[in-house]
Amino acid sequence: MPLMDRLITLTQHVRATQLHHPGASGELSALITQIGVAGKVISAQVNKAGLVKIRGSAGTTNIQGEVQHRLDQFAERTIQDIVGRSGHVCALMSEEEEEIIEVKESDRGGYVIAYDPLDGSSNIDFNVSVGTIFSIFRKVSAGVEVTRRDTLQRGVEQVAAGYIIYGSSTMFVYTVGQGVHGFTLDPTVGEYILSHPDIRLNATCKVLSINTCNGPYWDGWVHDFMGRMLARNDADKRRINDRHIGSLVADFHRNLLMGGIFLYPADSQSPKGKLRLMYEANPLAFVIEQAGGAASDGCQRILEIEPEWAHHRVQLIIGNAAEVELAEECLRAGSVVEA
Ligand code: AHG
Ligand code: MN
Ligand code: MN
Repeated sequence: MPLMDRLITLTQHVRATQLHHPGASGELSALITQIGVAGKVISAQVNKAGLVKIRGSAGTTNIQGEVQHRLDQFAERTIQDIVGRSGHVCALMSEEEEEIIEVKESDRGGYVIAYDPLDGSSNIDFNVSVGTIFSIFRKVSAGVEVTRRDTLQRGVEQVAAGYIIYGSSTMFVYTVGQGVHGFTLDPTVGEYILSHPDIRLNATCKVLSINTCNGPYWDGWVHDFMGRMLARNDADKRRINDRHIGSLVADFHRNLLMGGIFLYPADSQSPKGKLRLMYEANPLAFVIEQAGGAASDGCQRILEIEPEWAHHRVQLIIGNAAEVELAEECLRAGSVVEA
């Protein structure tokens, strides 16, 4: 019987990936399953956003000065309640919390989670796809104490990462370093079912995603890169299309399935870049590399960047490896000209 005729749940799949690890205690599988549960709760609420009075701004801002939407706060509380009390994590690092949250000692487990509870939340009121992004590290220091070594690890140390996208359907996409696998939530039974096994990035880059309205603030290399992409299109009958939603998780998911490159370069308005390393760039970089693509800040692999703090921002270039390399080449050439 072909694989897709068999029903494989997320829990079964995660457990199967752990069977290859002798000595695996099942804690990582249990943690990923709990993230899935939090995703179901958030998904249900996102779907009701038009019906109940939960849309719109909560009248508060987060540490980064961004307006918090009610669903941002709902998603944050849901993850704290379900994942934070799962017994599998010792610390939580969230876009919506200034400080790293240390779980109370009796509930601490062997992992650290970094997450963006609701990515693309400025789109909620307009029925555009949003998502939850997560990154998991093993606690590396001995003892119950949570140290900087546990929380601020480089992306290469991630043991699992992924996202849940709340779109026309809800999907859970994850990697534990054995490829990328996608599951679609069957809302009638409340279970994630394997629908996209072993996702490989389409070999052809068909999509270019960037907020072109930031053009006036860009450095010269971004203009150079855009010029070269358009010149290629002209020479080759428009092989690439511009697609940009403004929800990173949705832009990323489409590009992962179609083949494409997403860029959020640093600019004069956001000199360090806008997106955050720990809960946006790192997890998606792990996913894209596992799917055969690349992620860079223009100078180095995203996964090798040493985080300075929980809300470290980066310039992000992510997608097909050849196009990511072209962007790096433009940046290097630009630096020479400016020097
Ligand atoms: P968040 O909703 O978690 O704050 O993230 C928003 C991010 C990301 O989803 C998107 O790619 C980017 O902000 C869009 O920013 P601009 O509106 O500046 O293009
Ligand atoms: Mn985000
Ligand atoms: Mn967010």
